Amino acid sequence: MRKKLIAGNWKMFKKIGEAQSLIKEIAQGAGDLGGVELLVCPPYTALNAASEARKGTQIKVGAQDLHWEEQGAFTGKISWDMIRDTGAEYVIIGHSEQRTYFHETDDTVNKKTKTALKGGLIPVICVGETLAERDGNRTMDVVSTQTKKAFEGITKEDATKCVIAYEPVWAIGTGRNATPEQAQEVHAGIRALIQSLYDASVAEGMRILYGGSMKPDNAKSLLTQKDIDGGLIGGASLKADSFLAIARAGL
Ligand code: 13P
Repeated sequence: MRKKLIAGNWKMFKKIGEAQSLIKEIAQGAGDLGGVELLVCPPYTALNAASEARKGTQIKVGAQDLHWEEQGAFTGKISWDMIRDTGAEYVIIGHSEQRTYFHETDDTVNKKTKTALKGGLIPVICVGETLAERDGNRTMDVVSTQTKKAFEGITKEDATKCVIAYEPVWAIGTGRNATPEQAQEVHAGIRALIQSLYDASVAEGMRILYGGSMKPDNAKSLLTQKDIDGGLIGGASLKADSFLAIARAGL
């Protein structure tokens, strides 16, 4: 059985004090949520404070990106080592906002995934099609290419540590989520691809999250799909009550 992972991607929201308060509120309301794993991904500036605030709780902390080099002249960038130093254990890689606005490519996603694994961070690798790609019936092609490339050169042992997030670009921040059936179809396709790249045990163990306008009122119908193993939540993760309601739908 794959334990559901309910992850909040806070994007460019929450200063240090706000991050600490939100984690405290989530922890206070999470008493009945031992059956799911909770992860929050604050901005870099709040990573350390978040890691301190989560101590003694079930909440894990992750970063939203990393550079593939360990150190060097890369103004504005953060390495795996620096992320580990804050106490964070996860890292989101290849988010569509990174792909759209900051020149992320399948190649840099692959490099970052390798670096994260080498550094002992758990990668949450994001894949997903645009509206034009879905309308052109290219969803599975696009998602397969992104996934294959992300895992290029990654051993079976390392692959078992990874999490994938399927985030249709047209569903992010739009209030228009994929239907449970649409999401399930892609998740099953990703799992089959992982099986073909590795084997059935890697595929069965791989957690594949859905992201894109997941809210308390649609979470249950998405999270009860066979191949949906959690959520990567943007807007609704910024308030404890909606994040907790989604997590509860995953029980
Ligand atoms: P929303 O939940 O705000 O649509 O964002 C999804 C997302 O991008 C999570 O990474």
